[in-house]
Amino acid sequence: AEPKATNVHWHHGEINRDDRASILGHKGVTLWFTGLSGSGKSTVAVALEKALAARGVLSYRLDGDNIRLGINSNLGFSAEDRKENIRRVGEISRLFADSGVVVLSSFISPYLDDREMVRRIHKENDLEFLEVFVDCPLEEAESRDPKGLYKKARAGEIKGFTGIDDPYEAPTKPELHLRTDQLTLEQEVDVIIKNLQERGIII
Ligand code: PPS
Repeated sequence: AEPKATNVHWHHGEINRDDRASILGHKGVTLWFTGLSGSGKSTVAVALEKALAARGVLSYRLDGDNIRLGINSNLGFSAEDRKENIRRVGEISRLFADSGVVVLSSFISPYLDDREMVRRIHKENDLEFLEVFVDCPLEEAESRDPKGLYKKARAGEIKGFTGIDDPYEAPTKPELHLRTDQLTLEQEVDVIIKNLQERGIII
């Protein structure tokens, strides 16, 4: 949508991204976890947050359920609302990443276009963006059903549930691909930590 505010300009401070990175000892980045409900997005993010903290790396989790209780409480699950959900959390992620934090954003984010928008927002701001495909077959996610939502969706009590009667467009070229039905949580965290080290984001 066209911006409604005109004559608005970015105000520069005197401390820049490099200054913040030298205070923290690492760069900011956004890790974008995408996958079906119950695929393990939040579980991986929680374990990773702990592993990063143990290494002295400051991370912060943004999570679908939590964000939808607050800033995005006016949004539902239509394609339009999901897009606005992702746009807002994309913008929030880039602000946190600019602040120097390792951002762990876990959203189903079922549409390729919406994830590309978030990637673009980061690219335009010269920030690293890593798409992490939290991949788990629907049958497995459905058998886990941690919140009983698949059961409700199958019973028709929830309409437009991702994977049941709403689409999930899998990433075509994610920076990281985790098969959560084949790896242990520990292995998943290791893979991500190693990847961040290889990219020179953390030591
Ligand atoms: S999205 O698609 O990225 O905007 O969704 P997200 O913000 O990640 O929110 C997903 C969580 O909302 C609950 N929920 C639903 N998910 C999918 N489809 C429908 N219709 C729906 N209704 C409620 C569900 O608990 C999701 O949480 P996770 O953690 O993914 O299981």
